[in-house]
Amino acid sequence: MKSILIVYVTKTGTTLHAARIISEVFESNGYSVEIKKIGDDIHIDDYFGIIIGAPINGMQWHPEAVSFITKNKQILKEKAVAYYFMSYILNVGNSFWNKRIQTSLNKVKNIVKPENIGMFNGSVGSDFPAVARWIFGIKKGTPMNLTDDSEVEAWAKDCVEVFDRI
Ligand SMILES: Cc1cc2nc3c(=O)[nH]c(=O)nc-3n(C[C@H](O)[C@H](O)[C@H](O)COP(=O)(O)O)c2cc1C
Repeated sequence: MKSILIVYVTKTGTTLHAARIISEVFESNGYSVEIKKIGDDIHIDDYFGIIIGAPINGMQWHPEAVSFITKNKQILKEKAVAYYFMSYILNVGNSFWNKRIQTSLNKVKNIVKPENIGMFNGSVGSDFPAVARWIFGIKKGTPMNLTDDSEVEAWAKDCVEVFDRI
């Protein structure tokens, strides 16, 4: 049985929620899965594949995820690797910001090239200021929670197909 580690960092829980959905999809396709937080005791060599999930903060993929990949790049290059991220602004903000997010991801892709990347809609709290909506070009009335379990599930199924071929 192929084993997968999903390693994540989260501030408000949506990345962990996505990890659980991805885990269920992999398990229902015959993989064994463990979910661990960046900072836990992790032995990458124990797994066939590693999926790394983190939110976008300040238009950058969370720095703890980037550090994890940088620190483990040699061993990750020998594994099946996928990344996913949660972003509130990705699909509802001004395209200028999307380019900033893509630039941050391109830097990570150059450290260790993943087999697949999931880009998921995130959520913000009710304290999200109106001025931030204006800066990011988010239309009034856009829901605070844009997460969609079905988009995570669809990506995970695609990821299983990719990992099956390795
Ligand atoms: C401090 C902070 C900064 C954020 N910065 C961004 C950002 O620059 N771009 C973006 O698309 N979303 C941003 N978000 C939204 C979150 O990345 C996103 O909605 C995600 O669901 C949060 O993931 P988490 O629940 O795993 O922490 C930010 C959220 C917080 C709390």
